Amino acid sequence: SVVILDFGSQYTRLIARRIRELRAYSVILPGTASLERIQAERPEALILSGGPASVFDPASPRPAPGVLEQGWPVLGICYGMQYLAQHFGGRVERGGRREYGKALLTSCQGPLFAGIEGEVQVWMSHSDAVTLLPPGWRVVARTEENPIAAIAAPDGCTFGVQFHPEVAHSPKGMQLLENFLELAGVRRDWTPEHTLETLTAEIRAKVGRERVLLAVSGGVDSSTLALLLHRAIGDQLTAVFVDHGLLRLGERQEVEQALRPLGPALRVVEASEQFLGALKGVVDPEQKRKVVGREFVRVFEREARALEAQGCRWLAQGTLYPDVIESAGGGAGSANIKSHHNVGGLPPDLRFELLEPFRYLFKDEVRELALLLGLPEPIRRRHPFPGPGLAIRILGEVTPERLEVLRRADDIFISALREWNLYDQVSQAAAILTPLQSVGVVGDERSYGYVLALRAVTTVDFMTADWARLPLEFLDEVARRITRQVPEIGRVVYDITSKPPATIEWE
Ligand code: XMP
Repeated sequence: SVVILDFGSQYTRLIARRIRELRAYSVILPGTASLERIQAERPEALILSGGPASVFDPASPRPAPGVLEQGWPVLGICYGMQYLAQHFGGRVERGGRREYGKALLTSCQGPLFAGIEGEVQVWMSHSDAVTLLPPGWRVVARTEENPIAAIAAPDGCTFGVQFHPEVAHSPKGMQLLENFLELAGVRRDWTPEHTLETLTAEIRAKVGRERVLLAVSGGVDSSTLALLLHRAIGDQLTAVFVDHGLLRLGERQEVEQALRPLGPALRVVEASEQFLGALKGVVDPEQKRKVVGREFVRVFEREARALEAQGCRWLAQGTLYPDVIESAGGGAGSANIKSHHNVGGLPPDLRFELLEPFRYLFKDEVRELALLLGLPEPIRRRHPFPGPGLAIRILGEVTPERLEVLRRADDIFISALREWNLYDQVSQAAAILTPLQSVGVVGDERSYGYVLALRAVTTVDFMTADWARLPLEFLDEVARRITRQVPEIGRVVYDITSKPPATIEWE
């Protein structure tokens, strides 16, 4: 295994993800983990993460005594490199050569940089810098600002890099990490099957004989989680699908038909009236999220009470790592952008313990699991759909009439995307009903209809996104169909804003 010692970097999970992508097994341990704890993982290599601390601070976290003397190959990243340099007798200086953002690496040499030539863009974020090498060490890359951007020990398998190879802004970073794994002789047989086994074992260990309540939303994440939990704990799982009345056309039936045959006991709760009642008069987007989140929890509590005699204590959720970051649970300094109801917004009197087996996974990793678990294709390839559903796609007050209008228009848009084979080419698509009404002519008469916005984006991680360049003939056809079949809509517009500055949803 690769043991990643975490010194508090916001990128530590990303390092783990990259190592998984390279098909090696990794574990994250606190930077100060004891030698015995690390030995128990039978490491083939260590990675020391970056972190906000400075080696000058006597209280800064450090590897336990002896950890760097075991002959394990080591890659130190940022703070990790500074620590290595200091530990082996070099010198680090404070604030000297501060670098932040993109930098160009030059004169890369040696096996760590095999296949990486010329000027290479990397991501820097540091204020301390190594200024003197430990005896026998060599510089193996530099930047314009920094003559010591990467270092190698004489043993041939200990390295330090000042930049962050794990982030996307270091496009050759994967190659570097792969080179390190090769040099360290790390086994590369870790597959999605292994991830599946590990998650299954973790769930069993955590939950024991207790019951778990899972909210299934119909998205890839919660559907995959239903199958995973069913695999791990069988009928200790009760999967509940809440029809909150804010779903797309036909969505409820689609989910039932997909999941039921695969095993999990699925309970469908009809709660439209409760949600629509609670949303009456609510126009503020955050308030809508809070209301939907609150009503969700109420429904769960009601469901759980019935199970209480059997000791249902866990509420499982398909929270992914990017959700964790956006809701400020992830790295230092990440702001709370929207209160995604599946992470925040849960009331303090909540009686469940949260079970979130995917909280360290990324979407594509969940899709790989979905494939292994046999989740049917249409659900596996489905675009994400927000928990608060159509409530945040109707600007202003949510009424049954507006829901009905939006549902029909949305269905025309999404069906047309499928028909034109465009569905899989965009990451997410939505119709948004605005409260604006505009003037038009129908026949000889003036009409007065809603303005509907279409939104389609492409994105890798949903943190940033670009608007999709859908063919104009396609947009034309969709606008015609919508205005013809949904007479309440008078005008169709296409959203050409990327994220940032906009978000994917309108609310
Ligand atoms: P934004 O609009 O923030 O959306 O760019 C990023 C992704 O998150 C989804 N989203 C939500 N999902 N509850 C959810 O479960 C929410 O409140 C919520 N708000 C946004 C959005 O659909 C997109 O995929």
